[in-house]
Amino acid sequence: MVLIRREVPGDQRAIAAVHDAAFPCAEGTPAAETVLVDALRTAGDTIAALSLVAERDGQIVGHVLASRAHLDTLPCVGLAPLGVLPSHQRRGVGSALMHAVLAAADALDVPAAVLLGDPAYYRRFGFQPAGPRGVLPQDPGWAEHLQIRTLNRWDGRARGVFRYAPAFAAL
Ligand SMILES: CC(C)(COP(=O)(O)OP(=O)(O)OC[C@H]1O[C@@H](n2cnc3c(N)ncnc32)[C@H](O)[C@@H]1OP(=O)(O)O)[C@@H](O)C(=O)NCCC(=O)NCCS
Repeated sequence: MVLIRREVPGDQRAIAAVHDAAFPCAEGTPAAETVLVDALRTAGDTIAALSLVAERDGQIVGHVLASRAHLDTLPCVGLAPLGVLPSHQRRGVGSALMHAVLAAADALDVPAAVLLGDPAYYRRFGFQPAGPRGVLPQDPGWAEHLQIRTLNRWDGRARGVFRYAPAFAAL
């Protein structure tokens, strides 16, 4: 059984272990995503209600984080990272985390969630290419991978450059 719940104090180490295992990193060095999570926390740009873990038999096997971001001047969220322990992948954990974080963001009246990722994977969660909606990446090289999931508060008018929290600049 997998439970999705909010991160609580004491989870940080297990969350780091998830990302270090899910993403490439040199032996003994944290993954860039682990460093990113720490930097976002330090900067106060994480959203506590949108840091979710997946727990199986008491072990944290996955994590997703949303952080403060802007689409032009409109506050929204950037989703990253999403990671699942390799030994627990392809069993629906990543999907459960993504559905949960989108629903939680909607409940917080966030207008949209944006991420960089493989459109083939994220399409199933309602993400669409950002470009045709007039949502542009900070780095033109990201264009193909920038995707937006609009939520209930989206009024359809926002356009412009999407900016992650500053901690992403170090990625
Ligand atoms: C991407 C990730 C979070 C998915 O988690 P998961 O628990 O394995 O996902 P689910 O079991 O819910 O879904 C698995 C499905 O996603 C697909 N999938 C996973 N990664 C994919 C990718 N990059 N592109 C396309 N499809 C992908 C699988 O093929 C599988 O599809 P299928 O069920 O049709 O065969 C996980 O594989 C992971 O941690 N990967 C390494 C880190 C990463 O790349 N994170 C995403 C970028 S931030």
